[in-house]
Amino acid sequence: MLKIEEYRQIIDEQIQMLGGMKRPEGLYDPVRYILSLGGKRLRPVLCLASASLFGEYSAALMPALGIEVFHNFTLLHDDIMDQSDVRRNHPTVHKKWDNNTAILSGDAMLIKAYELISKSPVGVLPQVLEVFNKTAIEVCEGQQFDMEFEKTSDVTEEGYLDMIRLKTAVLIGGSMKIGGILGGGSLRDCALLYKFGLDIGMAFQLQDDWLDVFGDQETFGKKIGSDILNNKKTFLLISALNRLEKASKKELLHWINRKEYEAHEKINAVTRLFQEAGVSEVLIQKRDDYFTRSLENLGKINGDHEMKQEIENFVHKLMARSR
Ligand code: IPE
Ligand code: IPE
Ligand code: MG
Ligand code: MG
Ligand code: MG
Repeated sequence: MLKIEEYRQIIDEQIQMLGGMKRPEGLYDPVRYILSLGGKRLRPVLCLASASLFGEYSAALMPALGIEVFHNFTLLHDDIMDQSDVRRNHPTVHKKWDNNTAILSGDAMLIKAYELISKSPVGVLPQVLEVFNKTAIEVCEGQQFDMEFEKTSDVTEEGYLDMIRLKTAVLIGGSMKIGGILGGGSLRDCALLYKFGLDIGMAFQLQDDWLDVFGDQETFGKKIGSDILNNKKTFLLISALNRLEKASKKELLHWINRKEYEAHEKINAVTRLFQEAGVSEVLIQKRDDYFTRSLENLGKINGDHEMKQEIENFVHKLMARSR
């Protein structure tokens, strides 16, 4: 049985070997560019690890690659929507090229993703596609809520949690369920893998929100404060609005509604209000609640014990991530 780190290496090697992307270079150079900038590869790695809980990982290899290509496609479009200039410490595709390039190269990646996922063994292909299709459309739903929330201040904590479940958590849950199906896991175990991945995904996005404010740009690879500038209704912002006393809440709302400002001034002011509200601790508690619950479901899975331990160690490190 391979270790998680070896799965990551396999994914990286296979990503480099993806074929058939020659002309026009204007379409495929950005695809190679985003895929070569690395990233944590957590979704395909968890897909392969899930398969090997029950048997061979080999049937899951191409679909796992497809899931990583899909994830990278969502990043191309997400970076246009969020007007993000930097990802993985490099210029985003729409900055290095332009919006049209990022849209079309993204479209090509979505198709490539389906091509790879379709290489699942024919007996389980319908099941795999059913999970993937549901997941992919839910990511779109989550992204739409995320955008709509930028324009309103009355987003509830439940509304936020549902939005991140859709935009982020389902893809992690889906990757693991697909891995489970391809490895020959039982219905019950595949459902548990999905639940596990969903909770990990919730904790993961909470951590992403935290890093967007309190992380280090060099390590995180993305610009700090971008959620604040976009008026994203993150867990930090929602909790701060709920917890701050009147004058400070008014100040926070003033920054959200202000049309003209210096970026660093807004980032500093909102960050200070988050600190005043003590929302960092609230977020960490919420993240840890999801993490604890995820482990309960992992524990219930009937799979290889060593691999379960590997997965547990991997997500443990993921929770403490700074990138
Ligand atoms: C970024 O995902 C998008 C989110 C769901 C927060 P990752 O943090 O997994 O990005 P990479 O692939 O490692 O760069
Ligand atoms: C990302 O959410 C979700 C998807 C890409 C589907 P974010 O917008 O927070 O991700 P980052 O921070 O840009 O990676
Ligand atoms: Mg976004
Ligand atoms: Mg973004
Ligand atoms: Mg983010």
